[in-house]
Amino acid sequence: MWMKSRRFQRLGGGRLERMGIGFISRIQLMQLGGHKDPKITGLIRQVRRERKSLLMANEAFMVYSIARAQSKRPGAFAEVGVFDGGSARMTCDVKGDKELHLFDTFEGLPQSVEQDRDVHRKNQYTSNFDSVKAYLSDFENVFLHKGLFPDSAKGLKEMKFSFAHFDVDIYESTLGCLEYFYPRMNPGGIMLSHDYSLLAGVETAFTEFLADKPEELIELPTTQCMVVKL
Ligand SMILES: C[S@@+](CC[C@H](N)C(=O)[O-])C[C@H]1O[C@@H](n2cnc3c(N)ncnc32)[C@H](O)[C@@H]1O
Repeated sequence: MWMKSRRFQRLGGGRLERMGIGFISRIQLMQLGGHKDPKITGLIRQVRRERKSLLMANEAFMVYSIARAQSKRPGAFAEVGVFDGGSARMTCDVKGDKELHLFDTFEGLPQSVEQDRDVHRKNQYTSNFDSVKAYLSDFENVFLHKGLFPDSAKGLKEMKFSFAHFDVDIYESTLGCLEYFYPRMNPGGIMLSHDYSLLAGVETAFTEFLADKPEELIELPTTQCMVVKL
């Protein structure tokens, strides 16, 4: 697959990547503007202005749309891979009074492994805990957990989820997300991941994890995939 070529992935994280995302997002926003609620496209534009976001406009739309649907179902919300808070902000807009648990090292990516094909650097995407906390402070029941996931979830009370968003870029982190959240998803709960068709480590983690599960992976036309818990 051309998207998985090492040269393409090497763009990860730099100004070049964000310029590319910004350019494609502007085109996508023009398309979305033709048939979607201007409130949503306006929010995507606003978040893109306010934060360094690594989601393209269509991907931000998917996060928003799935979170909105899942806010009507029982269960808490979670995101692993918060970075500057862009995708979390989309979720906050529609979560109502649900708990949203946000996990990040805020020190960037952990060490990647062979499955990741040497695409990322350790500590890439370092962000600022206090800045993200302040940015989301208007929303109730938002909890930030700093540290390496899933260790950072150890003190957390046991709960069930209706929506879990993963944007962690690498194999071991993605596998950690699946192992933690799969048994904690309510039936009908949705796990959505960024970068499935872009990053080999993310795809491999899903393929391996779902091999003995009854759920089918649903690939989206963005880089994302989702799994609906049976
Ligand atoms: C691409 S960024 C997330 C982008 C973000 N969702 C957005 O809206 O722009 C990936 C993030 O995953 C975090 N991350 C990756 N593996 C992690 C792990 N095991 N525990 C905690 N954070 C992790 C990194 O620190 C980084 O902030």
